[in-house]
Formats: sequence, structure tokens, C-alpha cells
Amino acid sequence: MCGIVAYSGKNEAFPILINGLKKLEYRGYDSAGIGTVNGSVHLHKREGKVNDLVSYCAGKNTSGKIGLGHTRWATHGCANNQNAHPHQSQSKRLTLVHNGIIENYEALKEMLTFHDFNFESDTDSEVLVQLVEWYQIRYKLSTRVALGRALQDVQGSYAVVLHDTSVKYQLLAARSESPLVIGLGEEGHFVSSDSMTFDHSAKSIIYLEEKVIAELHQNEEPAFYTLDDITIDQDILPFDYRKVAVSKGDFESYTLKEIFEQKLSVSRTLNGFSNYNSEELSKVLDDVDRIIITACGTSCHSGIVAEYLIEKYAHLNVEVEYASEMRYKCHTLGKRDLVIGISQSGETADTKMALEIAKSKGVKTLAIVNGVNSSIARIADQVIYLKAGIEIGVASTKAFTSQLSAILMLTVLIAKTKNTLTQERLDEMIFELKKLPAYVSKTLAVSEKIARRVAYHIADAQSALYLGRGLSFPIAIEGALKLKEISYIHAEGYPSGEMKHGPIALVEEDLPVIAIVNNDESAAKIISNIQEVKARKAMVIVVKNEDVELPRNIADHVINVPAVPSYLNPIIQSIPLQLLAYYTAKLKGCNIDQPRNLAKSVTVE
Ligand code: AGP
Repeated sequence: MCGIVAYSGKNEAFPILINGLKKLEYRGYDSAGIGTVNGSVHLHKREGKVNDLVSYCAGKNTSGKIGLGHTRWATHGCANNQNAHPHQSQSKRLTLVHNGIIENYEALKEMLTFHDFNFESDTDSEVLVQLVEWYQIRYKLSTRVALGRALQDVQGSYAVVLHDTSVKYQLLAARSESPLVIGLGEEGHFVSSDSMTFDHSAKSIIYLEEKVIAELHQNEEPAFYTLDDITIDQDILPFDYRKVAVSKGDFESYTLKEIFEQKLSVSRTLNGFSNYNSEELSKVLDDVDRIIITACGTSCHSGIVAEYLIEKYAHLNVEVEYASEMRYKCHTLGKRDLVIGISQSGETADTKMALEIAKSKGVKTLAIVNGVNSSIARIADQVIYLKAGIEIGVASTKAFTSQLSAILMLTVLIAKTKNTLTQERLDEMIFELKKLPAYVSKTLAVSEKIARRVAYHIADAQSALYLGRGLSFPIAIEGALKLKEISYIHAEGYPSGEMKHGPIALVEEDLPVIAIVNNDESAAKIISNIQEVKARKAMVIVVKNEDVELPRNIADHVINVPAVPSYLNPIIQSIPLQLLAYYTAKLKGCNIDQPRNLAKSVTVE
């Protein structure tokens, strides 16, 4: 989704802003723009990538020690130069960047048009900057007060940074339901959608609260106001640049680096959970009769794995809801329910909204998130942090296996609280969980070459089917999502038993069918389902534990993974599927870190 970066300080803003925008590329976007201020505003906007903007700016005036930059993920109006941010007010006095959606923009635009305001773009964001100016002119208000008034009229979500050319070196920033952080340093101040854009000079950070306006002046302490212009305080926390600095290292992409980092990320999650104060959570779980897991995309697939695990080992009823559908299915939520929101970014608008609905009904909430201090982490009553480290690749890989690791630990904790497993069995599961990083490492080592080879057989396919049963069903749908996200090959995941009820009509000669076989009671059944697709001449690729025996000639390609206890399989089996999607996308020449149309952090509903 849109990315914001703004700077006011002692240094030239342009290189700082461009560097920041490049770091925000992971969020997904289709145009970029920049405005630097040196007396007047030098505005440059381009459809395409940040590098296109940089080339366009060559030889143009980009001077100024204050500026605003933006990457736009189109919502209202197509991706073109005009709709790119920053946007300016009619008089060109105000310049603004915005992330979010102004739901009532049409009504506001109508009112402004009636008052002779003209618009240059199709965006909801331009309406906001014009509205601020309208308040300034009509009521003779200061920029800050006018911004507060305009934001009170807005329905929807926003993170905004505003500059008024008549107030030298001042930046105003505010947010509601969209992320925005402020970095303070001796050389200047930063405002951004993500603290990873701050440089080494930033020494403190402010996670701006909802509906608070920050007023930043170069070299001065910041001041904070409510939208009604009452002074308030915000927490100013120490910031360590080294903790957010990321690089690809020797890898060709962030995604590949993150796939290979999983030994470490999984172990960080497990250690983090062990240090987590689980006593309080156990108390909450004691009263719980039902768990509702809500999430989107890959995180939702983690939720389905949790459903299988918690029901099997802790005998507790679990339901999984897409967060975007939760509001239509929340009628029976009650006091003995626990709603768990799972999110890598911690900023996904739908998941956030689903947790808010649960809270409004007095239901207990728990968040499993990677994004530290993210919106979802702040909403939930309790938080389990994944500690997987920043994930830059838009397609989630290491965050997924960390979610699964946390879910396994949680399953053990619930089983213990509910007394559904013997101490011996619990100890055995913990013992195996401790070996997980080593299993992950071995899986990466044994499956990379073969996944890379099999990718040649998939790269030209129009579509692919992924089949699983029991615990491998959610891994099948996640495998299919990975392939479609990064290689743009149409792929669907099904429970293999469902094949005969429709999808088998799609099976034809050489259709890639990726079947995931577990070393548990589901193996025999999925093997017969594989026979059914093989009989129809599909190209069968089997991912299985090495202790599973396959009938002869049933598979065209086999990817073996270590023989682990079946509850660890979702993590272990995901790895070859990530690699398969990766190398297929690579053969097709796709931009794997930033797939088309996708955003890393989906901050609008
Ligand atoms: C994952 O590969 C996807 N990019 C996407 O489905 C993602 O998992 C989903 O948008 C949820 O994001 P979150 O985990 O940050 O909430």
C-alpha cells in the first residue's frame, strides 16, 4: 500500500527521500512522487518505479532541506503521473501526501467544487488537501487548526503529512487507522510509514497515536495536538537504527534470503515464545470454549493449520474466518470466545477491524504478529510477537513458518491448560519443537536443487493444482497462493478428497498437480487421490516425508523432506513449495520481491 516519507532537517531532503522511498518499495506501489521545498515546492511525480522517478528528476530542481515523498498504490483513479502524490491545494500553498481511503471524498469534492475549487486528479487525497485550504480561507485558520478541522470531516482512514509553504520548515503529520511513525534526530526529523526509512541520525521514535497531529519544525522539539487543537503528549521512545537496517546480503532477492533465513526466524519465534509470560494467557484460555481465528491471505492459512492442531491436541473448537468476512459472521460471539488475529505486518486493515469488532462485543482478543508496536499489536488484549525479523518480500515466507511455530507452541500451551495431553506427550512435543530449526535447515538443504529442477516443468503451465489432506490441506492452499502471487500462474489448492466433486474436470494431460503427502493417517487416502489424477495423465509432483512409501510410477517428480512428527509437517512441507514457486517465477523473469498489483501491508479494507 502507499508509502510515506518526509524530512525536515539540516541536510538536502532529496537523497534522503529517494532512499526512503526505495526502502518502502516492498509495500507495493504503481507510481511515486516527491516534493522538495526551497522557497517554492519542486514537485516531481511519475507512474512506475522509484528509479523511473529518479531518472525523471535528473537535471531538474530538487533542492531543499524539507520535503515529502510518496509511493502510491492506486485506489481512486488509475496509476498515472497526475494521480501520483504529493497533491497540492488550489493556491499551491499546501502540499500533502496521504495513505488510506477517504470514504466520503465524493461528498466533500462536491462541496468544494460548489465553492469553486478545481481538481487536477481523480484521487480522494487531493480532496483532503483542498479541504484544508478551504478551512484556512473560509475561517482564517492556521494550517494546523485547518488540518484538524478537515480531518474531523473525513470518514475512512488516513496517514498524512502536510507542508504549508508559508510556514518555513514545518511538517504536520497525523494518522487514523493507517500507520505513521516519527523519527527525531539531531540532524533533522523524519515522518514515515515505516521506521526502516529513518537513517542513522534518528535517535528516538514516536508511534503517533490515532487522531493526533504532530507539528515538527527543523531542530525543534515536536508538539502534539488533538484534532480539536488541544495540546497532548506522545511517548518518545529510543530508536536504534541498526535494528531496522536490512539488506539482501549475498542473495539475489529479499524473498530468497527470507526463505533461507527460516532456520533462524523459526528459532527466534520459538525462543520468544518460551520467554513469553504464558501464565496470564493460560488464565485467559482456561475460560475459553471456542477460538475464532481471523486473518487474511497467508496468515489465514496459518489459522487453518491452527484449527487442525488445536482441535486435535487441545480438543477445543476452532473456527477460522477471513478477516474481511468477520463482520458478517460475528453474531454469536460471546464471553467464552477468544478471537485470535494473525498478521505479519500487524497493519492489515481487515484483521484490525475484525479484532475491533470482537473487542466491541466484549470478547477477549489475542494477536499473533510480526510487526512490533503495530496497530494490531496495540489493539489486542494480549500479543505474541513472532520476532521473525523484518520481511521485505511481498510474498510471505519466513513470517508464515514463524506463525506456524508460534501456533505449535500455543497448541501445546492450550493442551496443557485444558489437560488434554499427558505431561510425557507435552514434553515430547516440546523436545521435537526444539529440533525444528535443525529440521528446517535440513529441508532447505535437501529440497532446493530438486525444487529448482521441477520448476522447469511448471514454468510454461497455464495453471496448477495443489492437493493436501488433513494438515497438508492448508499447506496446499498456501503453496498455490505462493505460485500465483510470484509467478502469475493460476493455481488452486484443494483438499484432495474434494477432487472428485468438481476440480477433477480440470485435470488433463500434463497439468501440474502438486500433492503433499503426510506421514500420518491421511497418507493412504491422498495416495489414492493421486492415482486418480495420474490416471488422467496429469504431471504429478509429490512432496512427502522421506519415510512415506509411494506406489511405483505414481509420481513424475518427488521432493522428499525429512521424516518429522506430523505436527511439524506444515512448516517442513512449506519450504519446498516456497522454493518451487520462487524458481518458477525466476524462470518466468518475474519481479519476485514486488509482484504486480500486490502490497505488503494492506492498510485499506
Ligand atoms: C502473503 O504472501 C500475501 N502477500 C498476503 O496474502 C498476506 O499474507 C495478507 O495480505 C495478510 O497480511 P498480514 O499477514 O500482514 O496481515
